[in-house]
Amino acid sequence: MGEPSNHSLKVSHQPRKVRSFVRRTGRLTRGQKQSLDYLFPKFGLAMDAPLPDNWQPGQVVVEIGFGMGDALHQLASAYPQFNFIGIDVHRPGIGHLLNRIESSGIKNLRLIEGDAMEWLNQTQWHQSLHAVLLWFPDPWPKKRHHKRRIVQTEFLQHLSEVLKPGGYWHFASDWIPYADAVKERIGRQHQLQLIPPEQIQTEVLRRPTTKFEQRGMALGHQITDLYCLKPTC
Ligand SMILES: C[S@@+](CC[C@H](N)C(=O)[O-])C[C@H]1O[C@@H](n2cnc3c(N)ncnc32)[C@H](O)[C@@H]1O
Repeated sequence: MGEPSNHSLKVSHQPRKVRSFVRRTGRLTRGQKQSLDYLFPKFGLAMDAPLPDNWQPGQVVVEIGFGMGDALHQLASAYPQFNFIGIDVHRPGIGHLLNRIESSGIKNLRLIEGDAMEWLNQTQWHQSLHAVLLWFPDPWPKKRHHKRRIVQTEFLQHLSEVLKPGGYWHFASDWIPYADAVKERIGRQHQLQLIPPEQIQTEVLRRPTTKFEQRGMALGHQITDLYCLKPTC
């Protein structure tokens, strides 16, 4: 028998990345596809983009995992004094939100397509964010999938880098075991501090009802909102 070819011997030693999402080849409507083609160049940002011109550091809010983005659009419309970035991997949602940005004419919302962990790993926007919002992230309820939850030690470390001193992270979930795990994790690190929202000195944005929140409530789930402050010293 001949030697096996080099090709068959090739083994990748790259550790497999555990991701917090599964890329679904969800159906894009024609409108969503057109928005991605024509509007992303207008309202999209690259992963490694600097803060857009005229955006004041400290007045920027990032939502990670906006889904279809209606809550984010509502928020950006309600708070014109802030600039907003939405990050998601879900192309139908990005297309949908691009459409809404164009038709409403709001000027303070831009989108990034991609894995928020990759963005957090490479962004230079340190100490620039007023708030980071993570509303109803995939709860990955099975124990063997807990490692897929986006809130891990590395995620919290990145948050403390990108938030301005006095800025905050808002986590919301309809899955109590996830909220409990987040509380425990926060308790084990010292960069962020779990705090009642009324004790945050800076402006706290009111969370609109989201699509996944409605879904959770329809199932009888209880909603938990957690606020974590990045201390000023
Ligand atoms: C359960 S949905 C919640 C959507 C929305 N926040 C809501 O409450 O209706 C979670 C969203 O997070 C996105 N997502 C999950 N992991 C992500 C990651 N690492 N980077 C960017 N988006 C992510 C998914 O694509 C999905 O749109």
